[in-house]
Amino acid sequence: MSTTSPVSTPARKKVTTRTFRQKKLAGERITMLTAYDYMTATVVEQAGIDALLVGDSLGMVVLGYETTLPVTMADMLHHCKAVARGARSPLLIGDMPFMSYQISTEESVRNAGRFLQEAGMDAVKLEGGRERADAVRAISAAGIPVMGHIGLTPQSVSQFGGFVAQGKTAEAAQRLVEDALILQEAGCFSIVLEAVPAQLAGLISSKLDIPTIGIGAGAGCDGQVLVIHDLLGLFDRFTPKFVKQYAQLHGPIVAALESYRDEVIAGQFPTEEHGFAMKDDEWAALLALLEPRPLNGAGPASEQVWMVANAQTAHA
Ligand code: KIV
Repeated sequence: MSTTSPVSTPARKKVTTRTFRQKKLAGERITMLTAYDYMTATVVEQAGIDALLVGDSLGMVVLGYETTLPVTMADMLHHCKAVARGARSPLLIGDMPFMSYQISTEESVRNAGRFLQEAGMDAVKLEGGRERADAVRAISAAGIPVMGHIGLTPQSVSQFGGFVAQGKTAEAAQRLVEDALILQEAGCFSIVLEAVPAQLAGLISSKLDIPTIGIGAGAGCDGQVLVIHDLLGLFDRFTPKFVKQYAQLHGPIVAALESYRDEVIAGQFPTEEHGFAMKDDEWAALLALLEPRPLNGAGPASEQVWMVANAQTAHA
């Protein structure tokens, strides 16, 4: 059973895999961004982005790993649930983590199903070409829309020997064209092309009936995706060549936190406007309540028992 609770009525019509197909047919570009939490999902929704990917890139930009390999199903489901609480109209796509779809088709279908059943996603994404055709076929057959991902597939970083562009030789490019056609035939509704030459991505896009979503793959794709931390300039460890930063928020955030630290130390924050006050008469009444008074009105002052408010603590 899904543990996500509904967000307020979406202002936009829900984007579906059908919308993806229609956009490709109409020659309209598809917009996609990553998000990993509720707050970011709400702003992606408000910005009118078509699709929202809870990418396993969260391992690097949110969890601080060097690669996406340590990300688990538990990590992904946790973040997908938060995103699903913040965004409804974009197509919500959950990224299948390393080793969640490589072992057997049964396991890949079971894990894919969890993204929809438990985490409120509409579709899943997985990495790889022809070697993943069986998994794509089985997951699609279970009624779960699958987005493919070829080119630089970060879960294979160890095999590639780093985050390097793919498909730069004629043979490697031919293999990617074939992979794209095989994934389409296996049932993918769309394919991410990452870090491949722009001419090649354009060629693949023209050969496919399903839309391609590019990242570092030029303008010839049917849509584009970026990691939101890269776009906003939040992630300062490195910036891939294909990223355009639309804001540089890392510096201003550090500056804001430094101002907060300095003002707390100097006693400048909080001021009256950031707090609450008691009415004068309530304050006076409190002081009167706290005045020392005898418990039973008898005996010399030195023997009186004092009562503070309703507390049972007695002072001699
Ligand atoms: O994990 C991710 O964010 C991705 C995108 C870069 C496509 O796979």
